[in-house]
Amino acid sequence: MRRSILSVPGHLAGMHQKAAGSSADVIMLDLEDSVPLALKEEARQQVVTSINSLDWGNKNLSIRINQPGGQFAHRDILEIIPKCGGKLNSIVIPKVSTPADVHFIDKLLEGLEAEFNLANKIALEPSIEDPLGLENVSEIAAASSRNITLVFGIADFSSSIGAKFISIYGHGENEDFYPGHRWHYVLSRMVIAGKARGLSVIDAPYGNFKDSVGLQRSAELAAALGVDGKWAIHPTQIDIINSVFSPSIEEIERAQRVMDVYKIAVAEGKGAAELDGRMIDNATLRLAKITLEKLK
Ligand code: GLV
Ligand code: MG
Repeated sequence: MRRSILSVPGHLAGMHQKAAGSSADVIMLDLEDSVPLALKEEARQQVVTSINSLDWGNKNLSIRINQPGGQFAHRDILEIIPKCGGKLNSIVIPKVSTPADVHFIDKLLEGLEAEFNLANKIALEPSIEDPLGLENVSEIAAASSRNITLVFGIADFSSSIGAKFISIYGHGENEDFYPGHRWHYVLSRMVIAGKARGLSVIDAPYGNFKDSVGLQRSAELAAALGVDGKWAIHPTQIDIINSVFSPSIEEIERAQRVMDVYKIAVAEGKGAAELDGRMIDNATLRLAKITLEKLK
């Protein structure tokens, strides 16, 4: 399950400890934009130490490397994977603009897995953060069999398209001049590309961690578009995110009733039935099944 992904700066050991004890599904140790340039090397070493020394329970562990082709990305991988390959589930690749960015990391991992006899295959999570990345999102999603998610990088995406710097958090739902969800197209485009290739889609974090109502609304909007999870930048955001991306009691009950009513309809030789004044058919049944599968 990847409902909540807690992002923590790679150089801050104290935050790793707290993250390990949190209720997030995934912990993402960051080497990229939350780490000052002067501390990139220190962050790598700290990430290796934390991965190997802390008790992460049954959490998925992930790192975000620096941008492919920049001065740090290749060494992030060369120095971290051989030392903790067996414990790491995935690598978030930031600012992916073309499939080549994914191919580069994929081949590097293939070589390291062979050299160091690493049993588990490390998964990839390309992050879409600029217009070229969004234009190429289908090819990026298909670029490697390691891909498991597509991640939206809202801050870099906003700056790369020159969107007006109005609020530093949310999806525009607090901006009454804008009629709706500012990133509706981007998230929907990512959902189509990702789901067509069996990937999950993960929304950007909600920057104002004191605004739990805004976070809830932002997560609900994303969930309504088919997004599967959301990054968190503060432990207080995790429970809200987990609950939005899990089926509610009402949803579970409704799904169960759909299954029951439809079963009777099928037994009576009918293709459709009625529940609470609404028509239900095979498509409704699939929706109900998907809801119940999320409980597993
Ligand atoms: C994340 O990387 C972002 O740019 O929002
Ligand atoms: Mg970014």
